[in-house]
Amino acid sequence: MEAAGGAGGAISGGGESQPPKTLVDWALEILGTADPDEKARLGDLAATEWLRGAIPLPYDPSRPARPPPDRPARSAAVRLLPPSRAPKLGKGGSAQSRLALLHSLAHTESWAVDLSWDIVARFGAPLRMPREFFDDFARVAQDEGRHFAVLSARLRELGSHYGALPAHDGLWDSATRTSHSLLARLAVEHCVHEARGLDVLPTTISRFRAGGDEQTAKLLEDVIYPEEITHCAAGVRWFRYLCLRSRNGDPTASSIPQAITQCSELPRDGTGDIHKVEEVEDDGPKAELPQASIGDDKRVQQVEDELAKCKLVDIGDDVETAVIRTFHSVVREYFRGPLKPPFNTEARKAAGFEPAWYEPLAVKEVEGQAVE
Ligand SMILES: [Fe+2]
Ligand SMILES: [Fe+2]
Repeated sequence: MEAAGGAGGAISGGGESQPPKTLVDWALEILGTADPDEKARLGDLAATEWLRGAIPLPYDPSRPARPPPDRPARSAAVRLLPPSRAPKLGKGGSAQSRLALLHSLAHTESWAVDLSWDIVARFGAPLRMPREFFDDFARVAQDEGRHFAVLSARLRELGSHYGALPAHDGLWDSATRTSHSLLARLAVEHCVHEARGLDVLPTTISRFRAGGDEQTAKLLEDVIYPEEITHCAAGVRWFRYLCLRSRNGDPTASSIPQAITQCSELPRDGTGDIHKVEEVEDDGPKAELPQASIGDDKRVQQVEDELAKCKLVDIGDDVETAVIRTFHSVVREYFRGPLKPPFNTEARKAAGFEPAWYEPLAVKEVEGQAVE
């Protein structure tokens, strides 16, 4: 391991004098780990332990919450360049271009690991999110770590490695811009960026296939693509949850949507209704969760202010229209420029992300007039 930011306990889950680690403690440990392989390995371990119930609490209300780092630890072995100076990847027509594409994909997945643990560490406790929120993003984090691991291994099979090429240093910018708002984080990272990934991944797959690299094409097609659909679904699901919770005027009210589908259950054609994200009324969280520490008041207030925006676009609309209008408002505020078509409507639909959510964002609004 290159570096590890201690999160207040041993990896094993706490020594003799240490309290058991919470999921947020694990998230902080992973965010403080610079080595990308170790970051993915720890994330896989934490998610496995959480999902099998071996980590008792998502966070400990008796301890003041420690905020996650502004920027996660990163390996110095990977040279980062400003986006304007990052080398062009090409279109996969040569072995060199395909290697650059593969390296870039591995780089993105490594940042996605950090993004998943950051959402757990940054927002879970202050917003008193239900256990299902931690479940979903532990699964997403585990997936992203697996994606990084398989792409990194593929680079080694091809005689290269992650860090062999310089990499784009702009992937945390939007996380920074949305660090004070879970609504914005879900909308921009999971419903804009991850959905954009769904739009472009089929072309990337076909480029590897056309170049004769069937093995990489299959990794992207069989492992990564179906799981990325569930990540977009998680964004839609929790964005809707927050809007409905705020709409009810009760920050702890629960209307918990159905769990996102496990990747293994995803139909290969991506058309099954089982991914449709729907709310189900619930009597309450499945398990008692601790209340946020009073020390989190400032962050809680910031986020509650953000949630209050749901009310502003809610007047006179039915619930789904209000949620979608809120989504448009948040994306216009936090994402620069219109969304770029063509959209992968089939994959987006499989994530519960219908065209009404994103098509109006594909045009610019100039003084009240929509222009192409
Ligand atoms: Fe991924
Ligand atoms: Fe993802």
